[in-house]
Amino acid sequence: MKIGSSVSTSSDVYAKNYAFNQAQLQDHAELVEKICFAGGEEKKKKQHARGKLTVRERIEKLLDPGSDFLELSSLAGYELYDTPVPCGGILTGVGQVSGRLCMIVANDPTVKGGTYYPITVKKHLRAQEIAEKNHLPCLYLVDSGGAFLPMQDEVFPDKDDFGRIFYNQARMSAKKIPQIASVHGFCTAGGAYIPAMSDQSIIVEGNGTIFLAGPPLVEAATGEVVSAEDLGGARVHTEKSGVVDHLARDDAHAMAIMRQVVRYLGVSKTMPVRSQQPREPLYDAEELLGILPDDVSKPFEMREILARILDGSELFEFKKDYGTTLICGFAHLGGFPVGVLANNGVLFSESALKGTHFIELCVQEKIPLLFFQNVTGFMVGSEYEHGGIAKHGAKLVHAVANANVPKLTLVVGGSFGAGNYGMCGRGFDPNFMFMWPTSKISVMGGAQAAFVLVMVKRQQLEKQGKQMTSELEAEIRQPVEAKYAREGHATYASARLWDDGILDPRDTRRVLSQALAACMHTVNSETQFGIFRM
Ligand code: COA
Repeated sequence: MKIGSSVSTSSDVYAKNYAFNQAQLQDHAELVEKICFAGGEEKKKKQHARGKLTVRERIEKLLDPGSDFLELSSLAGYELYDTPVPCGGILTGVGQVSGRLCMIVANDPTVKGGTYYPITVKKHLRAQEIAEKNHLPCLYLVDSGGAFLPMQDEVFPDKDDFGRIFYNQARMSAKKIPQIASVHGFCTAGGAYIPAMSDQSIIVEGNGTIFLAGPPLVEAATGEVVSAEDLGGARVHTEKSGVVDHLARDDAHAMAIMRQVVRYLGVSKTMPVRSQQPREPLYDAEELLGILPDDVSKPFEMREILARILDGSELFEFKKDYGTTLICGFAHLGGFPVGVLANNGVLFSESALKGTHFIELCVQEKIPLLFFQNVTGFMVGSEYEHGGIAKHGAKLVHAVANANVPKLTLVVGGSFGAGNYGMCGRGFDPNFMFMWPTSKISVMGGAQAAFVLVMVKRQQLEKQGKQMTSELEAEIRQPVEAKYAREGHATYASARLWDDGILDPRDTRRVLSQALAACMHTVNSETQFGIFRM
């Protein structure tokens, strides 16, 4: 049951890998620091001068002292627009408030007045999606100028645009998922609906305002001249309109009131799982840096990774000697029971069948699934096609899609092709999905894509009676490889919210334990599988 390790920490390969991964992690940590604390002391001072706290200070006051905040997607919006939009202009994450895990969604007013770029909307909607799936109360810390007007066509009209935020609030409220808002600044037009659609709301006197149209628009439309405070200030809404329920003196007071609101919520239901005391792995997580190769295309033993993440380094493997390129087994992480599916090579028919069977077992017992991806896809070639790899792979994809238990995905190495689907990639709705900084994600590797495109061109030319030249081949190959290298990077993926964040491998246990704790509020209905093609 205990996973053995044959890693030699004194080998040259270990030292080379360690140096490479440490440098990558250092770069990543510096980038996150730069993004999360953009503006630094200057920004803080400006907020304080307005009688406001920064968004991070607000969250700190809201959380239970000493508790961990699982911040999501800090790289959202990175290098996406002409101007920087740090953290996508909004902070989201799971944190404990008055003893209850909640989803926190907080505008950062120092990023273009807290307005919503397309990525801000996407990040807000993803946070709501996680909250809905995991039955977490939503706490909105509102301080936003509403839609980022120059990009209105990308934030306003479509299904997953600004309006969806309010739709989600209404739907979640109906599902008894509490919706609570505190208003710390301007809350104009569409933004006004966040507190208005909430079950309970709070407003900060002097800084918080809510109105469908601000004073300039009111004057233009009706000729009425009115100050922001008289139009939709805190007193107006707590004494006259009844739009808001609680009056706060300042940001800190608003957070204290929000803690009270959460304290008086009913008890949340949790999954009836047989959890146990968390136990540290037998091996040091630091060694992950020496195990993970310095090149994503180099193979490595996934059990060495699992041994440094799972409780007690224990894994009760299922069909250990069958379909060996997919490791399946029962384990615990942070004390929670999990069914592990981890790649150890390309997926064959046997691996897909084994994975499908294993998922059926986990679903039967309502055990959360944990996917560790390092996959180039399913095996190709006539032998495998004739063996029906397409239908066997489809079984795995069916099982993953319909398994009605919490699913967590971690991209450890490569996430390529249909392997991404079979191993619960973003399209398969994992409750949470994370990447390691050196991991890669794309439809196929750059070299393979370039090869395919060169072949297509060669065939076109041959039909015209022409020949491919080495110059033309290089002309096709180089930009494709460069594009795939750039777009396959974890940073590129995370900036676009293809995941919920990038983790330091050494931090994986802590983050996955937090994510599993958040999943325990999921109210699972029974799983209904579709037709497995035989
Ligand atoms: N769309 C695009 N940019 C906006 C914006 C919006 N809705 N609201 C503010 N900005 C930009 C400003 O142009 C400014 O950009 P700059 O730093 O490049 O000059 C930046 O955000 C900060 O705005 P500023 O007004 O200087 O900051 P503030 O903290 O004093 O006020 C607001 C912030 C949001 C209260 C204020 O800008 C405002 O009222 N905006 C309009 C809100 C509105 O009517 N929205 C309707 C949307 S449906």
